Amino acid sequence: MVCVGRVFLFGVALSIFLATGSFASSNVETESPFWIVIDGGSTGSRLHIFEFIDDRVERRGSSRANFPLSAFGRTGEDLLKPLNATKVAEHLLPTFVFAAEKIPKQYHASTPVYYQATAGMRLLDDTEQEALYDALYQGLVESPDFMFSNLQRENIATLSGEAEGFYGAVAANYLQGTIDVDLNFIATDAAPIGALDMGGSSTQIVFLPSLSSGSSTPDNYWRSCVSDDLMTHEPILIEAALQDCHKAQSSNELPSRLNGPDFFATSYLSYGVEKFRERLWTLWVKEHVENIKPNECDLGVVENPCLFPGYSIEWMGHTLKGTGDAGKCIEQVKRLIPHPHQPDHDHKLGTHVGGVEHPQVQGKFLAMSLYFFTLDSLRVLSGHEALELSWPSPSIAELYDALPGLCSREWHTDLSINGKHEFTSDDVLPHRCLESVYLVTLLRDGFGFSMDSRDITFTFLVDGNEVEWGLGMVLSLHAAQHARHEMEQEDDSNSTHRRATIPKVGQYLWEFLTENFLS
Ligand SMILES: *[C@@H]1O[C@H](CO)[C@@H](O)[C@H](O)[C@H]1NC(C)=O
Ligand SMILES: *[C@@H]1O[C@H](CO)[C@@H](O)[C@H](O)[C@H]1NC(C)=O
Repeated sequence: MVCVGRVFLFGVALSIFLATGSFASSNVETESPFWIVIDGGSTGSRLHIFEFIDDRVERRGSSRANFPLSAFGRTGEDLLKPLNATKVAEHLLPTFVFAAEKIPKQYHASTPVYYQATAGMRLLDDTEQEALYDALYQGLVESPDFMFSNLQRENIATLSGEAEGFYGAVAANYLQGTIDVDLNFIATDAAPIGALDMGGSSTQIVFLPSLSSGSSTPDNYWRSCVSDDLMTHEPILIEAALQDCHKAQSSNELPSRLNGPDFFATSYLSYGVEKFRERLWTLWVKEHVENIKPNECDLGVVENPCLFPGYSIEWMGHTLKGTGDAGKCIEQVKRLIPHPHQPDHDHKLGTHVGGVEHPQVQGKFLAMSLYFFTLDSLRVLSGHEALELSWPSPSIAELYDALPGLCSREWHTDLSINGKHEFTSDDVLPHRCLESVYLVTLLRDGFGFSMDSRDITFTFLVDGNEVEWGLGMVLSLHAAQHARHEMEQEDDSNSTHRRATIPKVGQYLWEFLTENFLS
């Protein structure tokens, strides 16, 4: 259950985009500065409103339906019963009523609307996904309360895990000021920051790997160092220039003539915190049952080092009894990180997650959603001083050192009474030890961040703006639309000229957009 993808950034992508010529959706000519993106998650849907003003984009509000679209999915005998479109659409209507109040009336008919579903829908059958989208579309357009007539059926779809990760990175880079609203780098020597995202079902990573590691794309690396004009120089000068180029690439700076890098973007579908927890519990119970000797009886109690002392939980007919031992919990969690179905697989730590080999992590990262909420609870509930001081950019070692302080807290006499944390609800609190251990271990032993690395900033808001993929998606679509408008205004026959007008980072997106929206 692992999806892998690489987002290739240059090359063919551009020609495909040019050949395609137009967006599949008809909202390209929209005059509305507003965009609506609905994030169809596994526990509910969230509608986001964005407005483009001059050279920036602003969030104008969000509204949540606390019911997931995937819950309408039919199985077994129910598949024979038709879906009730009115009913499917009904749960989302209040969010659109909210949007209709926020967005001035004159823009209702031209505002682009995207419903993009993530992990919850990815788990359903393809045909059932499409049936639900058909029903949602029909139910919405037939409703007298639905004002956004620009909604296109093809803009209701399942977002791939790679796209989710990529848009997260676009949002992070925009909010950090690395790229502008057209996705151009703001400084010529800027290196894009990577993004880490964690949900209940899946987790995403996206970053620009160092090409000097040689393992990913050595051809691109050498091409990027050997530009055409360089080849006309004396051999000794070429040698010197190559050395400079190599030096620049081994450091964090990307030289301005570097061409052809590609992002590494992967989504691990069974590595969200809930899925990971269930797999670990199931593994323990299975091993417990296998290890019972023929003349022993099963008392049904399994020690759980990742649960607070005094807290127990029922799982598969067994009682998982908390011992709050961070060290043992780390050892157990490590077993399932390199491969989802082969515990203790002998992959080298720091090179594989979920059976997928990844390039060496590189550059600065923004870690969002559960990375922030969970590790912020570690900061508050562990009482670890060094972590408190270095937050929101702690070293991996500081995070590690804080784990025992959290995991060892007694449940009844202490944590259940004193464990107050702004972003932790009562039903999540019992799992914060395992979640914290899992995230920190994933960063070090899965993705290979070194113990002294401070490259990750944990964040929920940047200047009051939420970092989430919906923002990255509207930025990407808007930038592609803008680039297309510019191209149309130019002489159609001159492709050299056209190419020069395409935004720099925008080029990263063309293949991506082609695959996801333009086909
Ligand atoms: C479909 O759902 C709507 C709203 O829940 C309900 O009023 C209607 O009777 C349903 N239609 C059918 C054919 O069941
Ligand atoms: C295309 O545009 C470029 C730059 O403006 C110019 O140098 C070139 O001669 C043009 N080519 C054609 C075929 O018109």
